[in-house]
Amino acid sequence: MRVPHSIRVAALVLATTAFYGYVGQLVPQKEVQPPQETTFTADLSTADMVTVGRQIMEGKGFCLTCHTIGKTGALRFPDLAGVDVRAKSRVPGLNDVEYFAQSMYDPTAYVVPGFPPAMPPINKPPIALSDQEILCVIAYLQTLGGTPTVTLQTKHHYNSGAAAPGGAQPPAAAPAPAPGAPQPLAVPKKRAQLGPAAGAVVILKPVVAHQAPASTPPRKERAAGTSARREGAACRAEACQGEGGIAR
Ligand code: HEC
Repeated sequence: MRVPHSIRVAALVLATTAFYGYVGQLVPQKEVQPPQETTFTADLSTADMVTVGRQIMEGKGFCLTCHTIGKTGALRFPDLAGVDVRAKSRVPGLNDVEYFAQSMYDPTAYVVPGFPPAMPPINKPPIALSDQEILCVIAYLQTLGGTPTVTLQTKHHYNSGAAAPGGAQPPAAAPAPAPGAPQPLAVPKKRAQLGPAAGAVVILKPVVAHQAPASTPPRKERAAGTSARREGAACRAEACQGEGGIAR
């Protein structure tokens, strides 16, 4: 019994799809965060802020296009591993939170020895992180050698907190961000939603996931395009292979 051409083509397509799908599964996947619109409220926990801060540093903050974390050797930009330890004593009078804030809002106020003043102000375009996003980044930076202490209510010199760098923080003197006021932030809160939805490798996955199961019905429809083939398809549907109706 000869196999019709269309069946062989379909089998080849299926086999090829399956093969590429298989190869796609083998390639190690890098988790890339797709930009997602989400809101977060003023009651975000410090632990959540750390997570969000890390995502901002990889994404819209562009920090990790310049900075490394845990790399040694001749570097163009300061490596940020253990930076919280240094941050506490970099500038006399500034604690780590104030120092990190200064690093982002006013990067040239203190320039790390051996490096050019090449860091852009993070609260201004093109990066333009919000005060809350910068607090999240500070929370993550604190984990690099220390323990995160900031909350979204934390005040520092640059979000209308302390009047002078190094000064004591006034108790709620400045207008606090309206509690509960949701702020749009392009950072996902739930990691579960992130999945392998972006990135070069991941592109292969939807192809596999969607085409492999879906390819069966379309192929049948296509096979039914001509009368001769329809006959074969009908025959197959009725499981009448034994009658030799397919081969001609
Ligand atoms: C265009 C490259 C660039 C980008 C983007 C960038 N930085 Fe920097 N950063 C630098 C350079 C250069 C320095 C050292 C000079 C200085 O202190 O201003 C620095 C210094 C720092 C320091 C001080 C490190 C220390 O050892 O005291 C911190 C903290 C920091 N950056 C955090 C960040 C964060 C967080 C972001 C993202 C929100 C960011 N940087 C984005 C280039 C960059």
